[in-house]
Amino acid sequence: MNLPKGIESILIDKETIESKVTELANIIDNNYKDIETPLVVIGLLKGSFIFMSDLVKQMQTPLQVDFMIASSYGDSMENTEVSIIKDIETHISGRHVLIVEDIIDTGITLTKIENILSNRNPKSMKICTLLNKPSRRTSEVNIDFNGFDIDDHFVGGMGLDYAQKYRNLPYIGVVKNEKL
Ligand code: PRP
Ligand code: MN
Ligand code: MG
Repeated sequence: MNLPKGIESILIDKETIESKVTELANIIDNNYKDIETPLVVIGLLKGSFIFMSDLVKQMQTPLQVDFMIASSYGDSMENTEVSIIKDIETHISGRHVLIVEDIIDTGITLTKIENILSNRNPKSMKICTLLNKPSRRTSEVNIDFNGFDIDDHFVGGMGLDYAQKYRNLPYIGVVKNEKL
């Protein structure tokens, strides 16, 4: 396959991701099989947009979707400060909430979002992520549904970017570590 010139290799291919998404959707459906109100699935933009749409297409649980924008990395490779740019519109008090992320790295973003959302008294709140980088964690996060643990590569694709590039790649690729 022809890779974009900033991508050095494929870490997780498209087929492996697709079967993992199906597996996660089944596990999540089973987890929520007895809920009495539709699940509120909250995607953190921009990174989660592809994984979240692939995931909800495979789910049978009655659900609604909403989105938050909490950006921290900007165009650099280091996490600086988390800011909420767009909030959800759904009232989540008494509702079952599933937060969907593309990757949990230091855990700083999720910890901040969890604090904000738990103050609104959801009935339950769980976390689903496509990728997890446990070696980078500085802020503890309890992940309920995890796709893949990965080593400390900077990756792009399936919604993940480097300097806003590569989000559309249908696989997870390793980004070359050089000035672009
Ligand atoms: C990335 C990624 C996660 C977060 C993980 O988002 O999509 O949301 O960083 O990092 P952390 O666990 O160290 O907080 P980013 O801020 O780059 O915004 P984006 O989703 O728009 O790319
Ligand atoms: Mn993100
Ligand atoms: Mg990003």
